[in-house]
Amino acid sequence: MRILVVGSGGREHALVWKLSQSPDVTQIFCAPGNGGIGQLAECVNISATDIVSLTDFAQSKSIDLTVVGPEAVLTEGIVDAFEKRGLRVFGPNKAAAQLEGSKAFSKNLMKQYNIPTAKYSVFDDAQAAHEYVKQIGVPVVIKADGLCAGKGTIIAHTLSEAGGAIDLMMADRIFGDAGARILVEELLVGEEASIIAVTDGKTTIPMLTSQDHKRLQDGDQGPNTGGMGAYAPAPVVTDELLKTFMDEIVTPSINALASEGIAFKGVLYTGLMLTQEGPKVLEYNVRFGDPEIQAIVPLLKSDLLALLDDTVEGRLDSCKVEWHNKSCACVVLASKGYPADPEKGVEITGLEQYPADSPVQVFHAGTRKEESRFLTSGGRVLGVTGVGDDLESALKFAYGAIDKIKFDGMQYRKDIGARALKNPLST
Ligand code: AMP
Ligand code: GLY
Repeated sequence: MRILVVGSGGREHALVWKLSQSPDVTQIFCAPGNGGIGQLAECVNISATDIVSLTDFAQSKSIDLTVVGPEAVLTEGIVDAFEKRGLRVFGPNKAAAQLEGSKAFSKNLMKQYNIPTAKYSVFDDAQAAHEYVKQIGVPVVIKADGLCAGKGTIIAHTLSEAGGAIDLMMADRIFGDAGARILVEELLVGEEASIIAVTDGKTTIPMLTSQDHKRLQDGDQGPNTGGMGAYAPAPVVTDELLKTFMDEIVTPSINALASEGIAFKGVLYTGLMLTQEGPKVLEYNVRFGDPEIQAIVPLLKSDLLALLDDTVEGRLDSCKVEWHNKSCACVVLASKGYPADPEKGVEITGLEQYPADSPVQVFHAGTRKEESRFLTSGGRVLGVTGVGDDLESALKFAYGAIDKIKFDGMQYRKDIGARALKNPLST
C-alpha cells in the first residue's frame, strides 16, 4: 500500500516509523514532514492545511490510504474532500471533527446526551458574559469556542482575571475568530486523565493509557506547553477505571454523535477530570495526542496499518490490537524560548538513527535537514523515547540517549514519569 501521512510533528514521525515496519506498506509520503521523517518517508512540500493540493497529490500518486495527524485540517474538512474523490482516508469528517473544533458544539452534545461534564454557558456577546460571571462568581473557567492550539482556556480566580480573559478573547481577539464565541465553565477539581481510542463508529478500541506533562518545567512549574513528555501505560488508569471511562463516557459520546446523524471514525481523545462525583469530560480531541502517541506507538506489537485500515473499512470488530508488556517514556527536547517565542535554525549534534528494534527511538518534531546537518525548526524539537521492562528502565534509555544530543538553548524536563515512579496509583 502507498501511504500519505499529513503533518510534520513528533506524532507524525512516530506514525511513519511504525507504518514503515508494516509488511503491507510499499511507500510512504509525508506532507510536509520534517528532517527525521525524511529518513523513512518521502517528504512532500505541501502544507498540512492545503486540502486541495493534498487531495490532488493523493490522487496523482495513487495513494491507498492517507493518515491525517493534526486537528486543524480535520476541522476544515480534509476527510470530506478526500472521500468526495473516492480516496481512502483515516480521520473524522468535518461534522465529527466539531467535537474538537467547537467547544460549544461538544458541550451542547454532552448536555443533550447526559455525558458528565462541567456546567457551562455559551456567549456571543461580551457584555452578557461579563454580567454572567459577576452573577456566578469565581473561580471560573473561560474558554474560546474554536481551535487555539491548546491555549484557549483561562482559569480565573478573581473577577478581574475573568473579566480580563473575556476581553482578551472577545474584544482583543487574541485567538482571532476562535474567540468570537466563548464558554464560561464551572471549575472542576481533581486529577486529570485522558483516553485515546480508535473507533470506526461501531467498535471502539482504547490505546494504551498514557500521561502527558503539560508544564514547561520540572515539578509542573512554568507555562503550559503542547506537552513536554509522556509515558505509557499510565498506572493511575487501572483496567477497571478504563472500562468505566469507555462505558460511561467514550462510547456514549460516539453514540451521541451517531444519534445526531454523524458517524465518527478515527481517533477520539477524551480529556477527563476525575472529580469526587466521578469522571467528567474536560475536552475532546479528534486526533492522536502528541507527545502521548510517541510513548504509545513503540509499545504496539501488532500492525499499525491494519488498525488504521480496519477503521476506514468499518471492520474494527475483527481487528486484534496487541501490545508489548513493557513501558515507554518520551522526553521532549525543546528550543530556547519555547513556548512563547522559540529560537529556530540552531544546529543539532549527536543525533543517531536507531534501528527499528532498538529500545531508543528519537522522533523528530521541529527539525529540518540541510545537507548532512539537522537544524531546529520549531518549539518542540525532538521526542526522545525509551522502551524498557518498566518505567524506570524506559526512562533510563530515554535520558541516556539525551546525554548525547546537544543544541544551543536545549530545554527539557528531568522529571518525566517521576510521580508514577514514586506512587504509581496516585499520579
Ligand atoms: P481545554 O482547553 O478544554 O483543552 O483545557 C485545557 C486544560 O485546562 C485542561 O487540560 C485542564 O487542565 C484545564 N481545564 C479545562 N477546563 C477545565 C474545567 N472546567 N475545570 C478545571 N480545569 C479545566
Ligand atoms: N499533548 C496534548 C495534546 O496532544 O493535545
